[in-house]
Amino acid sequence: MSPVTRSRLIVVGQGYVGLPLAMRAVEVGFDVVGVDVDQSRVDALASGISFVEDVADETVAGALATGRYDVRTSLDGLDGFDHAIISVPTPLRESLPDLSYVEAAARSIGRLLQPGATVVLESTTSPGTTAEVLVPLLETASGLSAGRDFHVGFSPERIDPGNPDWSFTSTPKIVSGIDEASLARVTMLYDALVDVTVPVAGTREAELAKLIENTFRHVNIALVNELAVAAHDLGVNIWQALEAAGTKPFGFMKFLPGPGVGGHCLPVDPSYLSWEVRRKLGRSLRFVELANEVNEGMPEYVVRRLEALLNDEARAVRGARVLLVGLAYKPDSGDVREAPAVRVARLLASRGALVTAVDPHVSERDWPAGVVRAELDDASVEEADVSVVLTLHSDVDLSPLRGRLVLDTRNVVDEGSRVVL
Ligand SMILES: NC(=O)c1ccc[n+]([C@@H]2O[C@H](COP(=O)([O-])OP(=O)(O)OC[C@H]3O[C@@H](n4cnc5c(N)ncnc54)[C@H](O)[C@@H]3O)[C@@H](O)[C@H]2O)c1
Repeated sequence: MSPVTRSRLIVVGQGYVGLPLAMRAVEVGFDVVGVDVDQSRVDALASGISFVEDVADETVAGALATGRYDVRTSLDGLDGFDHAIISVPTPLRESLPDLSYVEAAARSIGRLLQPGATVVLESTTSPGTTAEVLVPLLETASGLSAGRDFHVGFSPERIDPGNPDWSFTSTPKIVSGIDEASLARVTMLYDALVDVTVPVAGTREAELAKLIENTFRHVNIALVNELAVAAHDLGVNIWQALEAAGTKPFGFMKFLPGPGVGGHCLPVDPSYLSWEVRRKLGRSLRFVELANEVNEGMPEYVVRRLEALLNDEARAVRGARVLLVGLAYKPDSGDVREAPAVRVARLLASRGALVTAVDPHVSERDWPAGVVRAELDDASVEEADVSVVLTLHSDVDLSPLRGRLVLDTRNVVDEGSRVVL
């Protein structure tokens, strides 16, 4: 065990990012304090129950049993720390970045700061946040000087919940610092936690790197979504065209169309970048704005296609029974934040459809109001006038949909009476 791991690490925010990080830190020997303002999350974790699919209950229970995982709702009573990592939400509020969670976390961590400690921000944010928002708040709260008395860095999280191939530990981790000494400390911290660290000289560059990754996906998904809409009107099968294009071994990366983008990353992060460009340069980042417009329009497009499908059957949406398959925003996850499927459900309900849905991954707590939960079996498909496949989880068997009227937004149902996006 390296000396760095025999130290106290505070992880602020025990959500999708902070919890796996805290568990890994306990595993490698840190004395970990996990802090979260959500009492129900803390209560669950303290009794060995995880609410993050990639973290098993046994892992939380095992961490508690080591005596090196203390999960709590406040930092009261602590006398300091060696390292602190901030992994709190960075949402949009009325389309603008909301850094209030980062600011609150910085203030509470700042009050405990002692000379020699290191603070790292992991939350996705716009270039400049670490140096211009985090550092001043830490300095004010502690009365210390960043660089001279303590170290500060930014290390964007790349965790991909539900991805069986790339975990927190195996995904290369970008690390950065406000100066050379900070970079060295932050690198040492993450070298103890992950397989590969990627040092980047400045925190702004590391912040931008994360936004580039997500903007790249957002824009490319918007491109294929717009192409899918146009191809349908042209009478061209977009899925076959994309499969053919995907055989090019260089210079092309295949993205697939769908009902829109969800989660807290793609619909949110690129807007942090365009906000920063507008705020500091006075101009727009047109690709991001266009991608937002296209991707945000997809749930409405799915509903229009469904209306047309029902119309062909001489049916109105009002009173139609629609079965949605998959509510989470991505496969093998129960995360419904910003999920396009939930927007489809709301749009259909507002037009008078009777909406049922199948998603074994979405918990009761997150299940959208007004949507009836169903199993995917012959009876539920038979009862529906039409089914819509929105997200395909690997443990959902689509065979009951075979030969039925299905709007397939993922091109995953066998041929029959299905209609692809
Ligand atoms: N989930 C992902 O896949 C993912 C991937 C990469 C980056 N990120 C980024 O990481 C950050 C965190 O995302 P997440 O998915 O873990 O969010 P989350 O909502 O699952 O977890 C954040 C937690 O922070 C807690 N919190 C808020 N303010 C707090 C405070 N002042 N003190 C203590 N706890 C506080 C909340 O109660 C919540 O439990 C965001 O910036 C997100 O964009 C997320």
